[in-house]
Amino acid sequence: MNYRLLVNKTNGLSKDFIPEDLVDTKSEYKEGILINEEVLNAFRKLQNDAKVFNYSFDIESGYRSYDYQEKIYNELVKEKGFNYALRSVAKPGRSEHQTGLAIDICIYKEGKCYIENDIEDFPETKWLHSNCHKYGFILRYPKDKEEITEYMYEPWHLRYVGDIAPYIYNNDLTLEEYYDIAKKNLDNY
Ligand code: DAL
Ligand code: ZN
Repeated sequence: MNYRLLVNKTNGLSKDFIPEDLVDTKSEYKEGILINEEVLNAFRKLQNDAKVFNYSFDIESGYRSYDYQEKIYNELVKEKGFNYALRSVAKPGRSEHQTGLAIDICIYKEGKCYIENDIEDFPETKWLHSNCHKYGFILRYPKDKEEITEYMYEPWHLRYVGDIAPYIYNNDLTLEEYYDIAKKNLDNY
């Protein structure tokens, strides 16, 4: 598996792309969530280290098939309209969730489970954003980077990229910007 894979509105995956090495996350949130095995191992380390602070993270969405992505995209268009859907959910074949390398984090707190925008201001989320690179993850759709990523801020969506995560974090880059820099370096070679 290429952990640096770029999937966005211009770099897609075919309808029949199904990643290898998918394993069950055994999430408390929902049964049957699958992600890449290396990604799960990295998440487990993060999850365990966070327990020291009494932070309780779980995965609420992982691998999504082409067909499932199509379903959620169509549902959101119906519910919130095309313009909103375009900024918040990828079209089928354009979602990193189809790679098995993306995870949506939920947080358990005071007997409740919080997802998506509800986690934005939690101390847990602040810790997650400042530490996930140590485990190979990046915050894939940061605030104020919508022009580059073409998606609204998603405080819950992490993407596993492996050993380039600290470089991306320390230089405040998106994966798109990382690819631009890598390409320029190659062009100058
Ligand atoms: N919410 C992200 C962009 C996705 O649907 O893959
Ligand atoms: Zn996501």
